[in-house]
Amino acid sequence: MDTLFKPIRINSMLLENRFVRTATAERMASPNGGFTQEMVNLYKRLARGGAGLIITGHSYIHPLGKADRRMTGIHNDGLIPALKKLVNEVHKLKTKIVIQINHCGGMRDKDVGEETPIGPSTVEYEPMRIISRGMNPEEIEEVIDLFAQAARRVKNAGFDGVEIHSVHGYLINQFLSPVTNKREDSWGGSFDNRMRFLLEVYSRIRKTVGKDYPVLAKIPAGDFIEGGLTVSEACEVAKKLSELGIDAIELSGGLAGSRYRKGRKDLGWMRREAYFRPYSEMVKKVTRVPTILVGGLKKPETMRKILEEGTADLIGLSRPLIREPDLPNRIRRGDLRKAECVSCSNCSGPSGREPTKCRAKK
Ligand SMILES: Cc1cc2nc3c(=O)[nH]c(=O)nc-3n(C[C@H](O)[C@H](O)[C@H](O)COP(=O)(O)O)c2cc1C
Repeated sequence: MDTLFKPIRINSMLLENRFVRTATAERMASPNGGFTQEMVNLYKRLARGGAGLIITGHSYIHPLGKADRRMTGIHNDGLIPALKKLVNEVHKLKTKIVIQINHCGGMRDKDVGEETPIGPSTVEYEPMRIISRGMNPEEIEEVIDLFAQAARRVKNAGFDGVEIHSVHGYLINQFLSPVTNKREDSWGGSFDNRMRFLLEVYSRIRKTVGKDYPVLAKIPAGDFIEGGLTVSEACEVAKKLSELGIDAIELSGGLAGSRYRKGRKDLGWMRREAYFRPYSEMVKKVTRVPTILVGGLKKPETMRKILEEGTADLIGLSRPLIREPDLPNRIRRGDLRKAECVSCSNCSGPSGREPTKCRAKK
């Protein structure tokens, strides 16, 4: 059997093939974060396209954790009925769906609200436009609980699992990174202390959803900026999560992975094919859980090789599926041309905040 179409289990979730549509912000939600018909149509299109697993765009666990105006919410129980409908539509098409949950911390658009964003410390980190007021220990406990409450809603809505967004410069990444975490208490300073917030979020979620429910984490392979989280620290994060019982790990770029990387000249490597491949190899050596490799995957032969060499267990695709939602089925049919996506990253429009769609020339 073609390795790309071999089933795989992630805890209680059985996937029909190795293609994962990785989290991709839709920017199509109603003002209160509710799911819209436009989003249901998007997910039906993706489900028909043949990916074994769809991970939704990030969704905020509290209004203060909302990154941009049209971000999806998972912050109150009133959202559950609409989410249930979405899940049913995707399940009718025999596809699994996981929701990604997030708190943006200090990386928040100005037009979302007046209140100063919260973060591990009071910082202004201009390159990534992170501005935050440091949280007190009670607030930290509250936010950990908000993550757990969000995961409870995810399970109640019938999703097949939940993914914790711990990368791209948002709150959990801000705790992990020495650039944004300047705390001197048990939540900052040493690497163990910086990692504590993510581990507590994971443990609280696990306690809430139970041991059989799939919990995934998207984590940094490093911050890729001076003074940031190092690659070896990132491997330790993966190892620790694996020891604690996480069900799958997806790797991405830390603070440098934010959308504000546009125009930064030192990150050209992010346009190369399979750019996190070496990091995935490192993480594979220290973990025992399925891993998702994402980032610049275009050629079916490369995807297959990655699985066969054991570099990763699943193939993550974001921009290629914005361009061609039926790419997995096209490969299944034997059409092995590389993905049409040219990695131009114009999917969010000129302002970087418009509904996601392919804006490359046809
Ligand atoms: C428009 C857009 C929105 C994205 N939104 C998210 C998101 O909500 N959560 C997340 O973890 N990654 C997000 N990503 C990152 C992708 O999941 C993926 O890691 C990255 O695009 C590299 O993969 P690719 O080369 O297949 O596009 C987004 C990417 C794009 C282009």
